[in-house]
Amino acid sequence: AVTTTTVPETTKPIMNSTVTPVTADPDEPLFPSTLISPDVISLLPTDYSIRPLRRSDYSRGYLDVLRVLTTVGEISDEQWNKRYDWIASRNDEYYMLVVCDGTHRVVGTGSLIVERKFIHSLGMVGHIEDIAVEKGQQGKKLGLRIIQALDYVAAQVGCYKSILDCSEANEGFYVKCGFKRAGLEMAHYY
Ligand code: ACO
Repeated sequence: AVTTTTVPETTKPIMNSTVTPVTADPDEPLFPSTLISPDVISLLPTDYSIRPLRRSDYSRGYLDVLRVLTTVGEISDEQWNKRYDWIASRNDEYYMLVVCDGTHRVVGTGSLIVERKFIHSLGMVGHIEDIAVEKGQQGKKLGLRIIQALDYVAAQVGCYKSILDCSEANEGFYVKCGFKRAGLEMAHYY
């Protein structure tokens, strides 16, 4: 005998006419949080966090942390947003992350810029840039965690190596992070 099954009215999907449209989060992370190494997260001091940069980090002390490294200049909210938009539109190339303390203030940062090459079978090289840890937060292994996190991103996105330029005074730090001296930096300022 042939049996027919009819879906009872009560189990039919309900068409909700008041569904809220999905809107983009204006403060979404610069790149997917899944690219942040779980090992690095677990090794941070209690209450500290590491995550991709967000637009709102402008008001969490991001630029002040960079002032530990070099001159930053006065950057208005509007100028920040314009540069942030430019970087965010290239978020498969610019990976910038921050370390925050228990009060969600930015206390450290680092960037990885991924260069796509023709050589080495279309190889990709990571450039580690602008590593900075706030003065009062140095010596807590935050710099090391930032480098480990950027190394993880570089490996995950397919870089075959990462390189960086630093002063002689910082060589020991990068050696402790697993880097070795290779070549010589040259510069032409304009
Ligand atoms: N020379 C030798 N060893 C160092 C140095 C150094 N300058 N700095 C740290 N270390 C050692 C530490 O003693 C530690 O060693 P240990 O594991 O034996 O205890 C190890 O390196 C890890 O140190 P962290 O605590 O992770 O270092 P910190 O959080 O203080 O960050 C950093 C180091 C980023 C250099 C910080 O001092 C800083 O922000 N300096 C000012 C800005 C700067 O110079 N940034 C680097 C520019 S180069 C670039 O961006 C590519």
